[in-house]
Amino acid sequence: MFTVLTGAQFGDEGKGKIVDLMSKDYDIIVRFQGGDNAGHTVTVGDDVYKLHLIPSGFLYNARVLIGPGVVLNPEVLADEIDMLEKSGCNVEPEKLGVDSKTSVIMPYHIELDNLRESALTEKIGTTKRGIGFAYVDKVARNEIQFSDLTDKNKLMEKLSELAPQKKNDIKFLGGDSSIVMDEELIDKYVRLGKKLEPYMADVSYEANKAIDDGKSVMAEGAQGTHLDVIHGTQKYVTSSSTIAGSACSSIGVGPTKVTNVLGIVKSYITRVGEGPLPTELNDEVGKHFQDVGREFGTTTGRPRRCGWIDLPLILKSINLNGYTGIALTKLDVLSELDPIKICVGYKLDGEYMEYPPHLTSDLSRCEPVYEELPGWKQDLTHVTEFGDLPEEAQKYVKRLEELMGVPVEYISVGPGRAQTFKNL
Ligand code: GDP
Ligand code: IMO
Ligand code: MG
Repeated sequence: MFTVLTGAQFGDEGKGKIVDLMSKDYDIIVRFQGGDNAGHTVTVGDDVYKLHLIPSGFLYNARVLIGPGVVLNPEVLADEIDMLEKSGCNVEPEKLGVDSKTSVIMPYHIELDNLRESALTEKIGTTKRGIGFAYVDKVARNEIQFSDLTDKNKLMEKLSELAPQKKNDIKFLGGDSSIVMDEELIDKYVRLGKKLEPYMADVSYEANKAIDDGKSVMAEGAQGTHLDVIHGTQKYVTSSSTIAGSACSSIGVGPTKVTNVLGIVKSYITRVGEGPLPTELNDEVGKHFQDVGREFGTTTGRPRRCGWIDLPLILKSINLNGYTGIALTKLDVLSELDPIKICVGYKLDGEYMEYPPHLTSDLSRCEPVYEELPGWKQDLTHVTEFGDLPEEAQKYVKRLEELMGVPVEYISVGPGRAQTFKNL
């Protein structure tokens, strides 16, 4: 079995929580794109793990892998391994593997991300983790790969060739170009490379072999569909392809092997950083989502912009990912609100549309059109099966399911493991 799981909105849908829960039944979990811009939260009892690189399925028995389509900050990975080991988790090389071809985020990528964000008049609102510049170097064939870090001579050879251009780029943006060939930084990266070397793996081989042997593999997406670098709301996107098909190309598993694709949908919508968000609310309902849903970025701590659930964007996600099922998260956060709204379409230049316009600039001008449903003034956080939800909450889920045309397979009513049930 090969399951692909992606976020259906703008990230932070609760992917980490659902991956943790499902990983009990999987042999391998692979992160396939993005880098430490991601922040996936796993809550087990009083323990809260905030993961940027290590797949969220590490707590059960699954082997967790970081695929070659990820951009890797080795310092963040080493810190994450230490953090998990201190919490008593096993992160030995038989538990975690990192593909040798994974592109490394170098200090100059982070510097360039910072400088470019500061220089832009219309900012993207990146996480300033160097993600975009590391992907640029991958595509330009100027990357430093994970395997290069283990050999100082090889690394110096590559860096010397790249240095003049990197220095120019940094100088052009007004930065300090000496970091490109800084001895101390290079030595630190080599030390990190040596420390992480035992984790080096061939991820496509492992994933294919496991699937062929009848084992279960899950691809864990980061970010969200509308942050996709090809199909998202450019330029306000991340630099990787976040949609389900990308799992195949990034891990190196053929599309014929995918058995199911799960979309994670939050019961409302959030966005960190700039870019259109047609249902954005700057009122007390928006504040309710932010406060009750604790909508502050896991990676940057920035407040997330919040709004009602946006069906046109979900319909586009269903097309882009081919979802076979949906996990609906944070239903509990809608409690106390009455009415509950679903954005079922937009008005643009006097026309009504049920699917997002293809131009980002037009999406920014869309006015949401809402369908209203009665709310439920009841706490949902202890509910453990669909039949025990208040009638109004059941109706909300059923209406969403009808509008999406894809079954809601999981419902989540709190951050904890027990606060999820299968909707059979
Ligand atoms: P991810 O990036 O998609 O993994 O999501 P994040 O971890 O960045 O953000 C989701 C946040 O919501 C985390 O703090 C989770 O613990 C929390 N969360 C997940 N599911 C639920 C839920 O059903 N209800 C509530 N109240 N919180 C949830
Ligand atoms: P998870 O996996 C939400 C956003 C940033 C910014 C844009 C580009 O936790 O859902 P980048 O640093 O990637 O160049 O920034 O993408 N972004 C996320 N938003 N959740 C994420 O990850 C994100 N990763 C990047 O806020 O708008
Ligand atoms: Mg997150």
